[in-house]
Amino acid sequence: MASRIRVGIAGTGSYLPERAVPNSYFEEFLDTSNEWIVQRTGIRERRFAADDQATSDLSLEAARRALEAAGIQPSDLDLIVLGTLTPDYLLPSTACLVQDRLGAKNAGAFDCNAACTGFLTALHTGEAFVAAGRARRVLVIGAETLSRFVDYTDRSSAIIFGDAAGAAVLMPHEDCGQGEVLKTHLGADGSGYDFIHMPGGGSRKPPTPESLAAGDHFIKMRGREVFRFAVEHMSEMIQLMLEGEDPEELTLIVPHQVNRRIIDSALDRLEMTDEKVAINIQDYGNTSAATVPVAFDEAARAGRLEKGKLVVLVAFGAGLTWGATLIRW
Ligand code: ACO
Repeated sequence: MASRIRVGIAGTGSYLPERAVPNSYFEEFLDTSNEWIVQRTGIRERRFAADDQATSDLSLEAARRALEAAGIQPSDLDLIVLGTLTPDYLLPSTACLVQDRLGAKNAGAFDCNAACTGFLTALHTGEAFVAAGRARRVLVIGAETLSRFVDYTDRSSAIIFGDAAGAAVLMPHEDCGQGEVLKTHLGADGSGYDFIHMPGGGSRKPPTPESLAAGDHFIKMRGREVFRFAVEHMSEMIQLMLEGEDPEELTLIVPHQVNRRIIDSALDRLEMTDEKVAINIQDYGNTSAATVPVAFDEAARAGRLEKGKLVVLVAFGAGLTWGATLIRW
């Protein structure tokens, strides 16, 4: 068997739509308040895509920035893997739309749906392709336009979601000399499929005037149960990634951003402070597959990743799914 190729992250990029939506927006039509939202979630505002923007548009901007950071051309790409639960269309994949508009004429392209674990699932898939020598340049993306799938009559879910995209370029570590992917882990428990789901619009319940009127195509969430699951898995994943590593080597943890209290509770369990944790939930809310790559890109550009030190990416979401990655920056 050929030896495994070490894989590095050559560059990252992200894109946030311009329209910032403060908590006061929801006070106009929901029984809620800025105080409740800030106190119970940590969110102050989120971004909503413009009417003419869909997930592929956000992805394209993030992808261009990641390619620029990696110093490669679209035609250098062998593969594009895009994690999303809010594709432009059920068919074809959003990755194909990005492939075309980017001009990545030598790349294969497909989507994966692991909800908020979507970016890490794309990253792990791309890493496996490069490690096995099946591809040399892979673009991985996490992108969502959740504002189109939110039930604006449901105060417990409407307030948490936003739109964004983040991306990263993978290549052999010997070609980029940074961001070596050391460990990856993905998990799933489909018995919790209805903790967070969209009951209508698929083959189980195709769209009908009645299902649309009932709002079956919107995200339904059992918030309290998800909260418990999230805290448990976030802390376990961080522990798993750092097992056997020197804690002094850690430069940053980049967790999925859905509720500030989930991050704080997971850190409490681990007896850790938030000093080395990337947190931007106050500005963008929960952008599902995009939270980790956006926070990762912002940290990289802000110089928060110390060369040669360890970075942990960790996420959980609908499915149920969870995943984590350990990187030596
Ligand atoms: N404003 C005011 N009151 C509210 C709001 C609101 N926006 N939302 C809920 N409440 C009320 C509830 O109705 C309830 O009232 P009651 O006691 O009279 O019944 C009370 O607040 C407490 O409700 P909880 O559900 O216990 O509120 P909680 O503090 O748990 O916060 C939240 C709710 C924000 C949804 C939280 O449970 C959460 O963040 N859960 C995790 C969500 C998550 O991780 N989702 C997964 C990712 S999404 C994906 O994969 C696509």
